[in-house]
Amino acid sequence: MAYTAKDYSALIGLPGFSETLLKNHFTLYQGYVTNTNKVLDTLDAMLKDGRAGTPEYAELKRRLGWEFDGMRLHEFYFENLGARSLNQGGALAKRLAADFGSYENWEKDFKATGAMRGIGWTVLYQDPTNGKLVNFWINEHDASHPAGCTPLLIMDVFEHAFMIDYGLKRADYITAFFNNINWNTVEGRVK
Ligand SMILES: [Fe+2]
Repeated sequence: MAYTAKDYSALIGLPGFSETLLKNHFTLYQGYVTNTNKVLDTLDAMLKDGRAGTPEYAELKRRLGWEFDGMRLHEFYFENLGARSLNQGGALAKRLAADFGSYENWEKDFKATGAMRGIGWTVLYQDPTNGKLVNFWINEHDASHPAGCTPLLIMDVFEHAFMIDYGLKRADYITAFFNNINWNTVEGRVK
């Protein structure tokens, strides 16, 4: 069954994110959905044609993770925007404080991860085996995801996520992102 691009136009008007930036970002996201479907369909056709052992098949198989993660991470990202505050007495706030020493330390680590040179994503992951929270740097879309962990908070730090509004000032974009986190969504992802 093919994937369908979701409609995130309700985010237009978010403080600190221009309409132009958001519309460009939605278009990029839609491209990942289209390409995920294309890659899956092509791989399926190649398999049925007896071409599964070819280098072309192998390269397309490698490509699948990049397109799929590009699609899914954008969905997580758009869905964790919308400015709802963290419940300071809730389970997630307590766990952040327990694992990082304090909420402030967690935020410092997440922001420093997002400020790293390179293009990719910063993701707060929870390891379901012990509940531990760790901030990960994801290179491009598909490198360094911790297997089996649950993504809770996702921040896009590809240049297209901020350059239209902030130029090279990535830190200012990260501040705007933090002002707009929908913590209700993030808390709902905790298992
Ligand atoms: Fe993006």
